[in-house]
Amino acid sequence: MNATTTALAAEPLPFEDFRHAPDADLEARIEAVKRELGASLLILGHHYQQDEVIRFADIRGDSLKLSQLAGARPECRSIVFCGVHFMAETADVLSRDDVAVYLPDMAAGCSMADMADLDSVEAAWSDLAELIDVEDVTPVTYINSTAELKAFCGRHGGIVCTSSNARKVLDWAFARRRRALFFPDQHLGRNTARAMGVPLDEMIVWDPRRELGGNSPRAVEKSRIILWRGHCSVHQMFKPAHVAQFRERSPGIKVLVHPECSMEVVEAADLVGSTEYILKTIEAAPAGSEWAVGTELHLVNRMAKEHPDKAIHFLSPMVCMCATMYRIDLPHLAWCLENLARGTPVNRVLVPEDVKASARESLRRMLELG
Ligand code: 13P
Ligand code: SF4
Repeated sequence: MNATTTALAAEPLPFEDFRHAPDADLEARIEAVKRELGASLLILGHHYQQDEVIRFADIRGDSLKLSQLAGARPECRSIVFCGVHFMAETADVLSRDDVAVYLPDMAAGCSMADMADLDSVEAAWSDLAELIDVEDVTPVTYINSTAELKAFCGRHGGIVCTSSNARKVLDWAFARRRRALFFPDQHLGRNTARAMGVPLDEMIVWDPRRELGGNSPRAVEKSRIILWRGHCSVHQMFKPAHVAQFRERSPGIKVLVHPECSMEVVEAADLVGSTEYILKTIEAAPAGSEWAVGTELHLVNRMAKEHPDKAIHFLSPMVCMCATMYRIDLPHLAWCLENLARGTPVNRVLVPEDVKASARESLRRMLELG
């Protein structure tokens, strides 16, 4: 036998070893990696994460806050994103080159982001170009979209928005060009444009499976905003009837919803805003006040637990939770962190360099708006 031996590269720890471990064991192992990696590790958590996971986040936030903070810490070398795939991609685009981003479960996607892909958006853009001057159209992508679509916006003078800044972004877009193509969430686009005074007959919906998006040439020419036919499967479950039921049951109740809800729900509500806005509004509310909240179930349940002095109800009688956010659980987080600590990282989210450069452009335009 040859006397020289070659050190074998360590194999990643298999996920199966974590799946059936007791929670207390997984929690201790997560804490141990956090201690070991110290400031070189940053765990980001979106507010929709389950309690068992969000408690390990160094920073929690909505999608705007998390994207603003993604590249901020000089000592950070690894970001573990407890959220969904487009958020991890955004962190990779915005963080320094020496920072790697990981998603504990690669199947944690977003059904809304999946409703628009680069090929269909490019096809829509060329169809539009046959009828109107696309130099006068700003493409605006909701942050809930692939990095490729952010790059498309970067290349065409467009911009990204989140639910916190959609109004500011559309103000910016309409100050520069006459029209906007807004994807993938028709509801955020419609609710925001409506609040700005754009009439409904100047908004069209673009269905990528139909010719000219299902519109007449006349309707396209008249449009100010072209709304992609996409939606959030969680927020579309809230209905105006749910608002009416709560108002009947509890006169004086305040209804607070996310702008991914339909226009009819937003119009029936008292207040509308992003998850960060929803949290701040509930925090600032007086003791004894009563609220029906239309957003993801885990966040609403957490607020109800953290504010026992206020009556906080979930707006829908159905269970509306984000099934993909829920994929990030203790076994996946522990598996991802232990592999990172032992030098066999798994689930790195890496946006290709050419996509990154253009995606950074459209994100930079958004972040410069403050
Ligand atoms: P915000 O974090 O911008 O409120 O968006 C909610 C959401 O749906 C995340 O996917
Ligand atoms: Fe996507 Fe809706 Fe889940 Fe947000 S809540 S990640 S928009 S499916």
